[in-house]
Amino acid sequence: MSAVTLPKQITVPEFRAAKGRGAKLAVVTAYDYTSARLTDEAGVDAILVGDSVGMVVQGHPTSLPVTLDEMIYHTRCVIRGTKRALVVADLPFLTYQVSTKQAVRNAGRLLKEAGAHAVKLEGGVRMRNAIRACVEAGIPVMGHIGLTPQAVHQLGGFKVQRDAEQLLADAAAVQDAGAFSMVVESVPSDLGAQITASVSVPTIGIGAGAACDGQVLVFHDMMGLFPDFKPKFAKRYADLGGAVRGAVEAYCREVRAGTFPAAEHTFK
Ligand code: KIV
Repeated sequence: MSAVTLPKQITVPEFRAAKGRGAKLAVVTAYDYTSARLTDEAGVDAILVGDSVGMVVQGHPTSLPVTLDEMIYHTRCVIRGTKRALVVADLPFLTYQVSTKQAVRNAGRLLKEAGAHAVKLEGGVRMRNAIRACVEAGIPVMGHIGLTPQAVHQLGGFKVQRDAEQLLADAAAVQDAGAFSMVVESVPSDLGAQITASVSVPTIGIGAGAACDGQVLVFHDMMGLFPDFKPKFAKRYADLGGAVRGAVEAYCREVRAGTFPAAEHTFK
């Protein structure tokens, strides 16, 4: 009998090494078993269990209300649906900013209780101690600079970030603190290219141009499932929102007309 060959899980060092090979990294968010399974089977390099769950799943206007327990729940669902992709889980607002001890304890919960392979946290220079403390505890960290949505009120909205000096300092701080990669969100493309050239770890862009080492999109944005907010960078690869609405309208019509269930859906 031949052995079943399972797909090999992508590791943090392999993800990081993609930059040296010039390979572009494809990352998508997911928050549940089904979308994780579909995106994993489609071949993404990493799945981000983003705190964008607060907006696209929970219906909040920002990601601020998301709790660590909710992130643990969603990460567990995603882990069950993933065989190959690296799974990175977001630390939500106020679960790592208070102290380095808080950061390590909560990042550790995402690995220990939820099974994440790495965590992501927002902030550059101001978060370097938190990143370093997690890395020293053996927790791989993906940084996040540029538009950091947890600071939406401080930034005055979901705006393109253009302070090149600050952004380059943030990228260097995240790299020097030991992060294996960093998300770069909503910066002009020439600045995205400059940041990418300035660090040795992969930059994963979202609204940061094509020169980044990889790209990340929010699942609901790319599938056309989230009607409330359509950022310029969010390319729609499908109109699942339209497909779902059409399917449910057809179902309602058939139920009301008495044509569903038909003979083939009925037990004799
Ligand atoms: O929460 C999230 O989904 C993110 C991505 C937009 C990078 O942080």
